[in-house]
Amino acid sequence: MTVTCVIGLQWGDEAKGKIVDLLTEAHDVVVRYQGGSNAGHTVVTGGKTYKLSLVPSGILRPGVQCVVTGGVVLNPASLLEEMGRLRSAGVEIGKNLMISRRAHVIFPWHMEEERVLDARVASDKSIGTTMRGIGPCYRDKVGRSNAIRLGDMYRPEFHDQVARIVEHKNLTLKALATNVDFKPLDAEAIFAEYSQYAAQLQPHVCDTTEYLLDAVESGQHVLFEGAQGALLDIDHGTFPYVTSSNSSGVGIPAGSGVPGKYLDKVIGVLKAYSTRVGGGPFPTELDNELGQTIRDRGNEYGTVTGRPRRCGWFDAVAARYAARLSGVDVLVISLLDVLSTVGDLKICVEYKLDGKRLDCFPSHVDDLKRVAPVYETLPGWDAEISDVRRYEDLPENARAYLSRISEVVGRPVEIVSVGADREQTLFADDAAAASYVPR
Ligand code: IMP
Repeated sequence: MTVTCVIGLQWGDEAKGKIVDLLTEAHDVVVRYQGGSNAGHTVVTGGKTYKLSLVPSGILRPGVQCVVTGGVVLNPASLLEEMGRLRSAGVEIGKNLMISRRAHVIFPWHMEEERVLDARVASDKSIGTTMRGIGPCYRDKVGRSNAIRLGDMYRPEFHDQVARIVEHKNLTLKALATNVDFKPLDAEAIFAEYSQYAAQLQPHVCDTTEYLLDAVESGQHVLFEGAQGALLDIDHGTFPYVTSSNSSGVGIPAGSGVPGKYLDKVIGVLKAYSTRVGGGPFPTELDNELGQTIRDRGNEYGTVTGRPRRCGWFDAVAARYAARLSGVDVLVISLLDVLSTVGDLKICVEYKLDGKRLDCFPSHVDDLKRVAPVYETLPGWDAEISDVRRYEDLPENARAYLSRISEVVGRPVEIVSVGADREQTLFADDAAAASYVPR
């Protein structure tokens, strides 16, 4: 296997960072190809905890080439802050970080646009974004006339481009800011600030599409690191309560320029239960004491915004859809330890709408809001499992729970994670373990 992909199969926060970190030693190149600093990955390695957002997790391993492609929307200030923080923690960042000159840049007007527009939306209709300007930047990318890519910042037209866009944004934002304050943006100040960022990032800026095509064509081991989760995919997720990029497996070719035929193995990461941050339907949500217990045991608070995550039972209907959509070969089940001691467990195996069984994941959000989950109840386990180090040493009920998930999602479980540390990783068998061995 030369090209491996790690995709979250729920609404993000599936603990992909840990799996990517485990895999990096077996890969030459690690790639971030969609999203932006709405993502937050926590990696615990060598007894240290690292919080990553835009920088690929591979940065923590010397010798691994990290690539941020043109499918990403990039806030230079947050990227530079993240790079600075990593450097202070002793992480080396030089030629091992490449950033595409095709990446679209997030400017202050994107954050302002998100704030001003969000204030006009009724709270029950709000998407509840991370307020990082992600949606407005992707909107400008698709709209084209007001978009600036990283490569544009090194061209003589950059100054006039900023001046023209700021004039346009000030006009529209002033008109739309009817219920919030709005201070007009200063084009010269933004130009000066972003010119500095451009200079600082310049050593990393290059054509990542050509680089990655060369890498896959020459048989290098490349790892694609998905951000968010498949159910937040702009085209195939729970629209409009989604993010603005293709966060399912379909996003890899578009975001990186690497054709789908090169993708050898897709690993789908699922929590042993479900979580969601922000608005949108969540059929298996536990808006009760049990949901709070899971939130506390799993420390389910957003890495980026600190918001409490909504928690619920494992939704096999949504997971099966997400796994098929992303071309998933094998599953990783994370945070299984969180479910210890909570009592009987439920898995949603079917949706009913107006009393009828649905045979597919609803395409309209209003239908998804109305579905009634059909549950199977499985016995839980009383013992804590975070010290378990072999799959076969898991309590019988935990193994039965995993088998049922595998059966209904239709994919084998390769790894089970029972804690944030590397050692808290259980491989289903020797063949599974072998694929994670450093080369
Ligand atoms: P945006 O990506 O900031 O536009 O937010 C759109 C939706 O995606 C909101 O519901 C966010 O809470 C959610 N979202 C974005 N990034 C993440 C993530 O990394 N984890 C979980 N949810 C996310």
